[in-house]
Amino acid sequence: MAKILVTGGTGYIGSHTAVELHNAGYEVVIIDNLSNSNIKILTQLHAITGKWFDFHEIDLQDAKAVQEFAENNTDIDGIIHFAAYKAVGESVEQPLKYYRNNFYSLINLLTSFNRKIDFVFSSSCTVYGQPETLPVTEAAPVQKAESPYGNTKQIAEEILAETAAVTPDLNVIALRYFNPVGAHETALIGELPNGVPANLVPFITQSAIGKRGPITVYGNDYDTPDGSAIRDYIHVVDLAKAHVAAIKKLEKGNAAANYDVFNIGTGKGSSVLEIISAFERVNGEKLEYKIGPRRAGDVVKVYGDVEKSNKELGWKANLDINEMMRSAWEWEKYIKANPF
Ligand code: WQD
Repeated sequence: MAKILVTGGTGYIGSHTAVELHNAGYEVVIIDNLSNSNIKILTQLHAITGKWFDFHEIDLQDAKAVQEFAENNTDIDGIIHFAAYKAVGESVEQPLKYYRNNFYSLINLLTSFNRKIDFVFSSSCTVYGQPETLPVTEAAPVQKAESPYGNTKQIAEEILAETAAVTPDLNVIALRYFNPVGAHETALIGELPNGVPANLVPFITQSAIGKRGPITVYGNDYDTPDGSAIRDYIHVVDLAKAHVAAIKKLEKGNAAANYDVFNIGTGKGSSVLEIISAFERVNGEKLEYKIGPRRAGDVVKVYGDVEKSNKELGWKANLDINEMMRSAWEWEKYIKANPF
């Protein structure tokens, strides 16, 4: 049974990916420093899969600890690397914290696992900025990042591409996520934002459950049908399954190059106001919202062309906006009744 290391595996996307890897017959090892996640997720993962995943509390910025782990775990076939700081706003206020953590972690992993290894990297559609044409394909130019967070994704992709170019044993796929939302169907795992959620859907669910006040819609004067900004929201379980598809593709070892990039989205755009009304319709909850000013750094419209992922990864998103809103709400209600 192939063994996959999931860094950041107690986090939102990492934990859902651990479940899908298990379901696909992989052995899962998790590294996390718990700086932005809760160890109770391991218990939740056991409740879902019946498995206590091998867990190591390691900060990937600690080169010695990563080296020691790699030497003691020579049977790891692949790595899915989620562990990184990812709050856009915080990255603007504390750029060095982001550059240090996101680059030291990646470089320590690459230097310690300096042998045959499959490597899936968590990248983001943020590298496209505001694309010239939509839907945006992987061939679209990477535009100047709007934040240090986005810049760490762009530079990390370059680090991986340039390292893979001179390291035949390193086989890399970078997945450019659009907007991950929703939760596992059991409602036992989901998004656990630290403090006030910056992202739309967790703010919606916390507002609906009474933890936050009314939602602020950041601008309704954009050049879109209803004036609010458009994104490609993808269910986190579909996103998790894309990582399994990427590992399977790397295992085949027949890729033309040992570095490639794939868009992971639904290929459909939804506006902020459409998301709000979908949540109300699916869950029978009335949301309170007000229109506020545009948020600095926001792009107006972005959604992905996912043909390459469909064809070359054999992966396609299946879950729709209704299931995204339903599962997000079920998770919010679960975490209120069972606080970690
Ligand atoms: C979505 C839309 C907001 C909150 C970012 C990162 C991306 C990824 C996901 C990490 C926008 C609007 C939001 C609110 C609102 N990050 N909004 N009121 O900015 O598209 O993507 O998060 O994995 O890399 O760039 O996501 O959910 O913050 O915003 O109106 O209270 O909702 O303006 O149009 P975003 P988001």
